[in-house]
Amino acid sequence: MNHQSTPEITELILKAAEKARRETSSTPEPELVKPLTWPVQCTVGPGLEGAISCETKIGYVNGSKGWLIYRGYDIFDLCAYSTFEEVSYLLLHGNLPTGEQLDRFNKKLISYRSLPKTLRKMISFPLEEMSTMAALRIGTMMMRQAQTFLDKEAARPDPVDATDTDADSIPMETKPLGEKRAIYEFKNNRKKRPKQVTADIISAQELESAYHLISGMGTLVGAISRLRVGKMPTEPDPELSHAGNLLYMMTGKRPTPVEERIMDVSLILHADHGMNASTFASMVVASTLSDVYFSVGAGIAALNGPLHGGANEQVLYQLESIGNPENVKQWYANARENKTKIMGFGHRVYKAYDPRARVLGPLAEYLGQHNRNAKRLCKVAKTLEKEVVSSLGQSKGIFPNVDFFSGLVYSAMGIPAPLYTPMFAASRVSGWTARIMEYLKNNRIFRPRAIYTGDFDRPYVPVEKRKK
Ligand code: CMC
Repeated sequence: MNHQSTPEITELILKAAEKARRETSSTPEPELVKPLTWPVQCTVGPGLEGAISCETKIGYVNGSKGWLIYRGYDIFDLCAYSTFEEVSYLLLHGNLPTGEQLDRFNKKLISYRSLPKTLRKMISFPLEEMSTMAALRIGTMMMRQAQTFLDKEAARPDPVDATDTDADSIPMETKPLGEKRAIYEFKNNRKKRPKQVTADIISAQELESAYHLISGMGTLVGAISRLRVGKMPTEPDPELSHAGNLLYMMTGKRPTPVEERIMDVSLILHADHGMNASTFASMVVASTLSDVYFSVGAGIAALNGPLHGGANEQVLYQLESIGNPENVKQWYANARENKTKIMGFGHRVYKAYDPRARVLGPLAEYLGQHNRNAKRLCKVAKTLEKEVVSSLGQSKGIFPNVDFFSGLVYSAMGIPAPLYTPMFAASRVSGWTARIMEYLKNNRIFRPRAIYTGDFDRPYVPVEKRKK
């Protein structure tokens, strides 16, 4: 993707970055965190608030500064100068790719973007009656089937792409294919092999699944978008970027450079975000030595909820139900009275403005200039933002989050609301897989405790003697 053809988008991102720096300059700088010595002492609140589950080098979220950092790079810089392909590589491998590495990675993504076997199966599901997230979850299981069982040759890990690969070990160690080569097969043999070699083989296989999912989930979202309205899936175009293909496969229309760029920025913004619920869910599943596809399936399930990724779809319905900027005051007063949570506001970590919303807000407004309905919804959103921030911003640290503006951006590009959360998943899969792979290097099964507050010593009563 050529950023030079969309200078106005780069400018909007850089302006948002400048505003963020200005507005948080008085907030104290955070202390640098050092590697931990386990066990750690920390205070844990309900919902595991404050709990430390692992160490990571992948990403950092600072709630009071409003920072989001991937592998040391500021999210604003990545949005302004990078692409989703580069960012996915960065999250998985730790560094931005060289030209050659990017070329190889792109070729992998292109090869995995066509999912003929999976899509053939998807066509037989009643997708028009299903939740789009349920369809996405089924699709990833079909991808697993195609990759691990049927497409035996394609499933063979490519040693060149593995991090820390001992080149000699890969061909020797990857004998059994199909279901028999699920990762736990290798883990069972751990004691017989030198530890490092085993870790390399596992990461090579997982890496291949990660590439497959990062590329293929975009195709699934495209296919779901079409199949649910009775249209056949659109073939990916190898000349388009990942973002361009996502839009093309969803709508059947080639995106303009601005649409492609904005979609790319949105994918970058959604790619990773600390130990959020879906990332944690996918890591919990991975920690049992289930495979990457099952782990990503758990991520999709967790992301679906309206407190998490499902909020983006709800935000649009909320804005549409408000209708016009003049209705905001009364709508908000009712919501406060009924203690209704306002979708697209608040965050467990951010008590300042979410940097992702800082980027997406201006992009939504930009798109709104050329689209009357989007302009109206943007005005409603900006009016609601003022109301919520003036009443809850200072007192409770409640500001718009990423989901408040993403739906506006997508709706301005003509994408229907039920696809917003699947699009979020198609981006977050980069973070899920990167974190799964990082965690598995020092895996320990997740197993927190619950405090039992129930009864003891209850006498067993046979069913016929139980009272109502
Ligand atoms: N509207 C009104 N009040 C809110 C909101 C909101 N959206 N969010 C939090 N509060 C209030 C909440 O009522 C509570 O007040 P009090 O202390 O008087 O009881 C206080 O703020 C703390 O809220 P909480 O629910 O305990 O906070 P949490 O950290 O458990 O939840 C959250 C975080 C994101 C689930 C929550 O803010 C929320 O439900 N927001 C709306 C849904 C949403 O937009 N989700 C997207 C999150 S960002 C992207 C993603 O993760 O997918």
